[in-house]
Amino acid sequence: MLSVGLLCVSGFSMKVRLREEMLLLNLQHSLFIFTTFCSLLMCGCAEECSSSMYPPKGPTFKGNVTWYTVNLDLPPSERWTHVIKEKKAELVTMIQAIKRFAGNFFHGKLIDVVDKELPLIVDTLPPPFSQEIKGIAAVSGIPLGEVVLYNIFYEVFTVCTSVVAEDLKGNLYHARNMDFGLFMGWDIKNQTWTLTEKLKPLVVNVDFQRKSRTVFKSTGFAGYVGVLTGIRPKEFTLTMNERFDFDGGYIGILEWILGKRDGMWMSFLTRRVLENATSYKDAQTQLALTKLLAPAYFILGGNQTNQGCVITRTRINTLDIWEIDLRLNRWYVLETNYDHWEQPFFLDDRRTPAMKCMNKTTRANISLQTIYDVLSTKPVLNKLTTYTSLMEVSTGKLESYIRACPNPCTPW
Ligand SMILES: *[C@@H]1O[C@H](CO)[C@@H](O)[C@H](O)[C@H]1NC(C)=O
Ligand SMILES: *[C@@H]1O[C@H](CO)[C@@H](O)[C@H](O)[C@H]1NC(C)=O
Ligand SMILES: *[C@@H]1O[C@H](CO)[C@@H](O)[C@H](O)[C@H]1NC(C)=O
Ligand SMILES: *[C@@H]1O[C@H](CO)[C@@H](O)[C@H](O)[C@H]1NC(C)=O
Ligand SMILES: *[C@@H]1O[C@H](CO)[C@@H](O)[C@H](O)[C@H]1NC(C)=O
Ligand SMILES: *[C@@H]1O[C@H](CO)[C@@H](O)[C@H](O)[C@H]1NC(C)=O
Repeated sequence: MLSVGLLCVSGFSMKVRLREEMLLLNLQHSLFIFTTFCSLLMCGCAEECSSSMYPPKGPTFKGNVTWYTVNLDLPPSERWTHVIKEKKAELVTMIQAIKRFAGNFFHGKLIDVVDKELPLIVDTLPPPFSQEIKGIAAVSGIPLGEVVLYNIFYEVFTVCTSVVAEDLKGNLYHARNMDFGLFMGWDIKNQTWTLTEKLKPLVVNVDFQRKSRTVFKSTGFAGYVGVLTGIRPKEFTLTMNERFDFDGGYIGILEWILGKRDGMWMSFLTRRVLENATSYKDAQTQLALTKLLAPAYFILGGNQTNQGCVITRTRINTLDIWEIDLRLNRWYVLETNYDHWEQPFFLDDRRTPAMKCMNKTTRANISLQTIYDVLSTKPVLNKLTTYTSLMEVSTGKLESYIRACPNPCTPW
């Protein structure tokens, strides 16, 4: 047990070095939680590949996601009004929880920054985002700085699994688990992550339309104007996963606040690409060449054979574009939160079990149903998993499901 503890502690310090944001946490508290989890991780919770989970049912399925239409022909400040009116109570609860969490940083000084400085940066955000955020603040009555904080938050705190796969007929499928809320308050009684649970009621499907016709569809969080999961029917599909790096999330955002603003917010870029790029190639070029505020993985699927890739980004460069290549028998690409040419962090290996289940399924049997099985296998499904999305470019289908992971289940 002691050696397990030590292993976990050294793993923990690695993780701290990997994620500068971790330095800001109350270390003792985290260490306590972490050692508790290490014993949990050693319990053999990892399971065989799930099967026959679709259509979603049972204890890992918490509910469907409601559809809303957002009319891009409206002025940006009015686009989200109907969504916010319905989700206001949940949004207030969530933002209070984020504030409580942020209150732990710098002895509460971060809250001062949120209330005093963040309202000022909203005008530095590119259109249409600044106006949309102001509209959301006005309709909800939530202070502007706090809505800005909520919109920044996901840029640095999401861990996920995304996959693009091609079947024998050349159909492309794209799916993801959205995992959110790591280290943000563990509810000991309910064995859940506080923020993860508060986020689940905010998950919405959005149909973005111009002239009453769908431009793209996404699954996101009410009050959040960026996009992490989306599809342009018949053209391409896109998801974003966080990439941890020394030159990571906080630095670019701090630079932005301090006035150096030549990079693009990652989830604003994904939204812009879904809204305005017109092909897989166009999307790939924009995602690879635009300067960013933080490193990221963009997972992109197209509408033709071999069109699926993981774009590994630093803030400035593209390190690698890893594509489906049927000649090499590579019929899918799968990304969690580690460079595909490196081993995943040993305490957070969701990649090996996910790939094992993809390989076991085989290209002959891949479909949205069987991908849902892969994404329902622990620890690919874990306590952080908020929703699972399934997309099929040829039919324009986007289906999302709120998830739960009852015990025994790994915390991430
Ligand atoms: C989710 O939607 C499906 C299909 O529309 C429906 O059959 C099912 O009853 C819904 N489940 C819940 C929990 O609302
Ligand atoms: C724990 O779960 C119970 C039952 O689902 C719920 O009523 C309660 O609000 C939860 N507690 C917290 C702190 O979320
Ligand atoms: C997409 O292009 C239109 C027209 O140029 C522009 O008004 C809009 O802001 C763009 N969308 C995003 C998200 O950048
Ligand atoms: C694939 O996307 C391209 C570019 O948007 C489009 O021209 C083409 O018609 C699409 N092909 C199919 C089969 O939908
Ligand atoms: C899955 O299959 C690929 C391609 O054959 C192989 O490179 C990879 O090691 C396999 N992964 C697992 C976890 O089985
Ligand atoms: C693929 O599906 C077929 C028919 O549903 C089934 O007979 C076969 O065993 C499956 N193959 C694998 C590897 O699961």
